[in-house]
Amino acid sequence: MCGIFGYVGNKNDAADIVLEGLKLLEYRGYDSWGVAVKVRKKLSVDKHIGKIGDAQVNLPQSVLGIGHTRWATHGGVTAANAHPHMDCTKTIAVVHNGIVENFQELKTELIEKGHKFISETDTEIIPHLIEENLKKEGFASSVRDAFNSLKGLNAVVVAYAPSREIVAAKTGSPLVVGIGKNELFVASDASAIVKHTKKVIFLEDNQMVILGKRLKLINLPGGKEIKPTINKINWKFEHGEKGKFKHFLLKEINDQRTTIIDAVTQNEKKLFEFANLIRNSFDTYISGCGTAGHACRMATYIFSTIAKKHINFAIGSEFSYYEDFLTDKSLLIVASQSGETIDLVEAVSAARRHKSKVTALVNVIGSTLYRQCDLVLPLRAGVERCVLSTKSFTSKLAIFYLLAFILKGEYSEGRKKIIKTARAVGELLDDKEFNQQLKNVADEIYKTKDIYILGRGFSFPLALEAAHKIKEASYIHAEGFAGGEPKHCEISLVSEGTPTIVFVPNDETKSAIISNATEFKARGAYIIGIGPEKQAVFDEWIQVPDLGVTSSIINIIPAQLLAYYLALKKGNDPDKPRNLAKSVTVK
Ligand code: AGP
Repeated sequence: MCGIFGYVGNKNDAADIVLEGLKLLEYRGYDSWGVAVKVRKKLSVDKHIGKIGDAQVNLPQSVLGIGHTRWATHGGVTAANAHPHMDCTKTIAVVHNGIVENFQELKTELIEKGHKFISETDTEIIPHLIEENLKKEGFASSVRDAFNSLKGLNAVVVAYAPSREIVAAKTGSPLVVGIGKNELFVASDASAIVKHTKKVIFLEDNQMVILGKRLKLINLPGGKEIKPTINKINWKFEHGEKGKFKHFLLKEINDQRTTIIDAVTQNEKKLFEFANLIRNSFDTYISGCGTAGHACRMATYIFSTIAKKHINFAIGSEFSYYEDFLTDKSLLIVASQSGETIDLVEAVSAARRHKSKVTALVNVIGSTLYRQCDLVLPLRAGVERCVLSTKSFTSKLAIFYLLAFILKGEYSEGRKKIIKTARAVGELLDDKEFNQQLKNVADEIYKTKDIYILGRGFSFPLALEAAHKIKEASYIHAEGFAGGEPKHCEISLVSEGTPTIVFVPNDETKSAIISNATEFKARGAYIIGIGPEKQAVFDEWIQVPDLGVTSSIINIIPAQLLAYYLALKKGNDPDKPRNLAKSVTVK
């Protein structure tokens, strides 16, 4: 969470370069933002609350600048709490991603030494620590010693007015350095740099880098210089333009006509190697958070039904509590769009402690999980800019299906089934009446306080995911259930007209889920059925084609579109829901 960008080079529009970088990183947090540039021996700072949007900065020309887009942890959303943060002399500016766990004790010590604080953030102690250190040593070693005294997972980028260098350091939170011609960049994510250069260094934990006329990479805590590994990234700069679409959410829902096919167009050797790891492991665990967690839960049904293979699922934030079960014969699979989700990074560390094998499905190439895992299948979904995950969800499902088909010995047949499903997704998205119907349903239900969603088997994780999408987009309370569960509790909440979405695919769950829908209807619920056949219990039928075992991939599409239209009806920004960020790098 939080986006960091820094520039030093021979161009004198550092403020604009930094702002442009921040706009590309805004998905990481959008409570407030700020930029600092070096102007001779002073720093000039501009900070704002709210989203960056089309904002411009009002700062002098400069060859060195740093900036930040914030997702608040310590302290509310105010200009004072926005980054960059400064020391008492206003010559040191710091942008930070992470949480300084020992900030309170460090702050008390600094106050005793006479330092004055103006924000409620943990970050503000960092420039003051550097200020103290500068009394006895140079800029880079002052940052190193300050950084070494921080507890927690942090990334910082520091500018010091008298210096023509930027110093950056990290433990946990991501940082990437870009090497251009006579210019250097540092950012939270390579996608913000790739426009300027394809040569990057992914900083490892406990590394610090000094960016000036040249680049110096240093190991922490000691300070020994090390040789950097320069990676060439071969992606095109994709602004992730919206094209003809009004919002990224709608664009990315529509991207699924091709991304599902791209997901199963994988390096075959790696695919089979991955499937073999599942086949040969004594026990396999799968973990993800949020939408990725729902995809992982779905994987347990996919592997059990198609490959007759049991997989243990735990959501990312709970995974480490199961670590005692791991051995050197276990396999962990993590799935993540960003590849930065901290709970999964910690799950990987837990698996490493037990010498288990670690594999991943990741969208962002070069991200932390991409680099940490033994074997990675890229999702190949392209840039996903909307905070709501849509195409990365179906890409994960497609790959899980394909792996299960490989385990069953039906690679080609399975791949064909998934591609057929992707084509049907394209046709459904092109269907104007289908889109209009979902708009109409949104018009009908947007004033409701609650929406319930029911599904059994494969459709249970779909119910969870549909609720997740609706909540993020519309802020309406939505809850997904395994169809048989509400009669143990939540059916007591149903009242006249409560919209209840029910997944009724043509599989073994059909008759039981229809009974569950009937139980809801008997208590007044308004039943919106998603399935290939009209059922008497439906008040509204959203028709989807029957694609057999891979139907789950297409069945989520109406829920994604409904979430989009609900967001519009409620006047919400569908791409940047309040309080959320795309990449969750704090626990
Ligand atoms: C999805 O719509 C979310 N905003 C969120 O739940 C997301 O899926 C979760 O944070 C996991 O992210 P990841 O895929 O980047 O690991």
